[in-house]
Amino acid sequence: MNEKQLAAEKSVEFIKDGMIVGLGTGSTVNFMLKKLSEQIKKGLKIKAVATSQLTYQLASALGIEVMDTELVNRIDLTIDGADEVDPNLNGIKGGGAALLYEKIIAGNSTTNIWIVDSSKLVNKLGKFPLPVEVVPYGSNFLFSKFEKMKFNPSFRKFEGKNFITDGGHFIIDLNLKIINDSVGLEKELKKYAGVVEVGLFTGIADIVIAGKGDKVEIFKK
Ligand code: A5P
Repeated sequence: MNEKQLAAEKSVEFIKDGMIVGLGTGSTVNFMLKKLSEQIKKGLKIKAVATSQLTYQLASALGIEVMDTELVNRIDLTIDGADEVDPNLNGIKGGGAALLYEKIIAGNSTTNIWIVDSSKLVNKLGKFPLPVEVVPYGSNFLFSKFEKMKFNPSFRKFEGKNFITDGGHFIIDLNLKIINDSVGLEKELKKYAGVVEVGLFTGIADIVIAGKGDKVEIFKK
């Protein structure tokens, strides 16, 4: 079993009968969905909300009951992946372009668990390009601003065109190399009109489960 799968399967042990579960997005989450569907077939009773169309489709196909967010008044536990996690359990997310819905679900969840392989554990965030979700209108102005700020921006592309998120936005990835003040940077970026969300997730993860070799390590806030 690979590290992503190990972490993913461990996380399913935290899901209990009656919970409303937030389903993250990405290849690690996909392993979690498969294990969760097995548990559901064995009798586990939960409801879920999804953070992306991709997750919605896979979860539904696996027999997991996915609700519209409007029909849910609480989320007990959200399990999601991450692109980088630092020792304070702050992270970068959005490599799979679902950062906006992931942050909405995470911010309204009682508990957040991230599942990662060991390569995602870093001392400092920033080697992974930081995704910034932006409104298409006027996004060229934001791009120029980020260039002037020496953030090395690039528009995320799909088949030669700007990638469009589930929310109908573009993503500008910032190649920063190192982030010394994640809270300050998030605040700074969110000041600009047109920035919808930033892939810096600070103070959100309660538990991080990392696959390492053939074991898992669990970090708590
Ligand atoms: C989705 O937008 C991301 O936040 C993912 O959770 C993150 O990119 C991790 O993806 P993998 O599990 O595929 O590595």
